[in-house]
Amino acid sequence: MVPTRSALRFVGRPTWEALSGHPVTDEVFANVHEVAHVALGRSADLVVVAPATADLLARMVHGRADDLLTATLLTARCPVVVAPAMHTEMWEHPATRDNVSTLRARGTIVIDPATGRLTGADSGPGRLPEPAQIVAIALAALGRSRLVGPDAGPDGTGTDLRGRRVLITAGGTREPLDPVRYVGNRSSGRMGYALVTAALARGAHVSVVAANVTLPDPAGVTLTAVETTAELHDQVLAESDGVDVVVMAAAPSDFRPERIAEAKIKKSPDGSVQHLRLVQNPDILAELVQRRAGSRHPVVVGFAAETGDADGDVLTHARAKLARKGCDLLVVNDVGGGRVFGRDDTEAVVLDRDGAEHPVSHASKSELAGIVWDLVGKRLDSQRPGPSLL
Ligand SMILES: Cc1cc2nc3c(=O)[nH]c(=O)nc-3n(C[C@H](O)[C@H](O)[C@H](O)COP(=O)(O)O)c2cc1C
Repeated sequence: MVPTRSALRFVGRPTWEALSGHPVTDEVFANVHEVAHVALGRSADLVVVAPATADLLARMVHGRADDLLTATLLTARCPVVVAPAMHTEMWEHPATRDNVSTLRARGTIVIDPATGRLTGADSGPGRLPEPAQIVAIALAALGRSRLVGPDAGPDGTGTDLRGRRVLITAGGTREPLDPVRYVGNRSSGRMGYALVTAALARGAHVSVVAANVTLPDPAGVTLTAVETTAELHDQVLAESDGVDVVVMAAAPSDFRPERIAEAKIKKSPDGSVQHLRLVQNPDILAELVQRRAGSRHPVVVGFAAETGDADGDVLTHARAKLARKGCDLLVVNDVGGGRVFGRDDTEAVVLDRDGAEHPVSHASKSELAGIVWDLVGKRLDSQRPGPSLL
């Protein structure tokens, strides 16, 4: 824990020391025999600055080293995750915008702040993201230590997403039956949001289309909420132009009621059976692939929640689906027996259109997200040169 002088003043040294269980200092002239101003940065696997003030961003850009934190940041060669928090005016000032762009171009992972209540009575963009999101991005960055940073690029393992534009869908669509009921599915949005966090940690610009997700909104993304498959379809197709990757982690309802009753459907007094007529929804994944018309851009990743049946096991159905849809990667979950939905862990096989199959067992959704981005990154790097840096 390395506070700035302002942080020591704001919170106070005893609190930092009691919480961390270690002595803390902002001084480069403390413990000089340990040469702390270089030792800390050199030995770190990850540096997280949270909250980062506007002042600190400016000092980082200029390579200042006038306290222990900035000296540590100059010597660190590991991933650096910065979570700025400040009033909206400070965040939106051109000086701060430029500083953020410069830091990102150098490989620093700068998390966009959340929008919400700020220190005073005002609210807007500038709020520190939820600690859980900062931790998730930090852990994802830790796993990518060879790939983020100024040296990352096609000559590394080539899976960095810096500057790439990605569109991710999450959650499950709902098809109204009447004003109070819907046909839906059990997708929680956890997998989609794990993909969002991992993409942010790798430096991507992320847009999210969220269908009925009740998890906290991720900071640092453009998020559009939708309810039905038709809305998801329109939003995804509107946003898919100009993106490098579309990951369809949402579970769109394949069917919708043929008609939506204007008034709540009443129980019949005699207990007679109500027949629900369903019509098929558009196939968003197939349409996305058709629209790129033979080109491999954008990279399209589908998800398939499958169960085995009399016609074949999960993988047989999934291979047929990959061939039918023509996407680049298909992440297949066996959702039989209550597996996967709403849980933090998952079992999956990632099928590649080139025939490779990557089984992922006993993995967290974050780990699976990392594997998906590894495979996407390899495809991006093999398809065309990387974008110019911001
Ligand atoms: C009560 C109070 C709250 C502040 N909140 C913020 C803040 O949220 N973000 C920010 O960038 N600066 C904020 N500032 C201004 C910083 O304290 C000031 O820029 C300071 O020089 C930052 O130093 P540091 O980056 O070395 O910690 C605040 C100042 C005060 C007195």
